[in-house]
Amino acid sequence: MSDDAVFLPRDLPLWQDAKPYLDVRNNDEHTIVAYGLARALLDQIPEADPAVVLPAVVLHDVGWKKIDPAHLLDAIDKKPGFEHLVREHEIHGVQIAREILRRHRPEGVDIEAVLAIIDGHDTTRHARSINDAVMKDADKGWRATLHGVRTISAWYGWSLPEFFDMLETRSNPNMLTPQGRALAEGITAAARAELQIGRYL
Ligand SMILES: [Fe+2]
Ligand SMILES: [Fe+2]
Repeated sequence: MSDDAVFLPRDLPLWQDAKPYLDVRNNDEHTIVAYGLARALLDQIPEADPAVVLPAVVLHDVGWKKIDPAHLLDAIDKKPGFEHLVREHEIHGVQIAREILRRHRPEGVDIEAVLAIIDGHDTTRHARSINDAVMKDADKGWRATLHGVRTISAWYGWSLPEFFDMLETRSNPNMLTPQGRALAEGITAAARAELQIGRYL
């Protein structure tokens, strides 16, 4: 699928500039999936602003490029001694995103609002605004998608039953909007059924 079938025209230049920073840890693919989920959530949550949420999704993980690849999984898994790397990817991400946003100055986009969401998207868990909540639900909702399941299971060597337990006990209940939770739980329920039928993955 071509990039312009996924991204709105306003966000395509941001995506092109973000891509060189997203070639670690499947972040490019993760970003595409999260962007799709965000668009679906935005259709259901009219009080959120697509001109803030969608650029934030495109740029939220560019900072991982600056983190030592040897410790990426330690950081995501919050292994003792590596938690600070999660915060560091946010700080680097804000710097990189600021450069990209100022280069393009996309029409109608509040650059500071986008940066505020990137800054803290993983280290704060609550909804700091409805735009923050939709961005976080799209980011975390990715875990339940086929791409998320495949990617995360491979990182940690989890079995599928272990993975679904994590989704149902730790990830889905922490979604921040009712729409995000329904989306994640619906995807998970369908995936569990496929697993039961024996055709999943
Ligand atoms: Fe992140
Ligand atoms: Fe992410």
